[in-house]
Amino acid sequence: MTILDGKKVSNDIKNEIKTEVDAIKAKGERVPHLAAVIVGDDGASLTYVGSKVRACERVGFESTMVRLPYTTSEIELLRKIDELNNNDDIDGFIIQLPLPPQIDTQKVLMAVDPSKDVDGFHPENFGKMALDMSTFIPATPFGILELLERYKVNTKGKYTVVIGRSHIVGRPMSILMSRKGWPGNSTVTLTHSNTQNISEITIQADIVISALGVPNFLKADMVKEGVVVIDVGITRVADDSHPKGYVITGDVDFKNVSKKASFITPVPGGVGPMTIAMLLKNTLLARTQRRNA
Ligand code: GUN
Repeated sequence: MTILDGKKVSNDIKNEIKTEVDAIKAKGERVPHLAAVIVGDDGASLTYVGSKVRACERVGFESTMVRLPYTTSEIELLRKIDELNNNDDIDGFIIQLPLPPQIDTQKVLMAVDPSKDVDGFHPENFGKMALDMSTFIPATPFGILELLERYKVNTKGKYTVVIGRSHIVGRPMSILMSRKGWPGNSTVTLTHSNTQNISEITIQADIVISALGVPNFLKADMVKEGVVVIDVGITRVADDSHPKGYVITGDVDFKNVSKKASFITPVPGGVGPMTIAMLLKNTLLARTQRRNA
């Protein structure tokens, strides 16, 4: 059994990006600049955005965190997006999700200039991804592809089962794993909350990608021997014995599933750190494309 070490691989990627940034600086050019908009003060979202900003510092990017109150109206957020779209100093930006209920998420994501949409959430970029055109791939699916690639996991002709149909992970993942190319060329089933008898499906899978958000959902008796398991779950579970009062728990019963797996991602230290590294990669790409436009 091999652990797909996202912490290590993401560090390698950050070092590769830092080398490119150093070369940009040596030429006296402006370094990539990422902005992140966060509406409200949800603890998990603040943690994620904080990690994104720290990662920017680590590789030598400029970063800007835009914090707006929970009561921000849709119009106010759209105005802020317009500002960021028109700010030439900013190469890419993200709107941290989820947004408060008074704001229409899809409308907001559609207002982001596709050339700055480093999350790959704009329909233009999502459509390009589905059509195998070069574009920003959403950071979490992109990170999973990168892990599979760097560990040389064979996906061709394999049966991949994705659990969860979110726009951020499950849906794009199902598209990417079925595309021509590698990693990809899998036969894919996308399962979700209305799927009947899910164990009968997961037990047949060569690769299971779980992005459900239900701690310890995937048990050892739901997978076959030799399975490749990618755990995207990062749920905070209350735990008084921990200084923070919670532990981050994945969708997979790691202790038992890992005994049957050929490759498996841990939580934490698997997919999570990869997401941030790939956001940086998309930001570097945004800068390059904007300069060449
Ligand atoms: N919320 C959870 N995951 C993500 C992500 O990848 N990007 C953004 N913007 N918000 C998120």
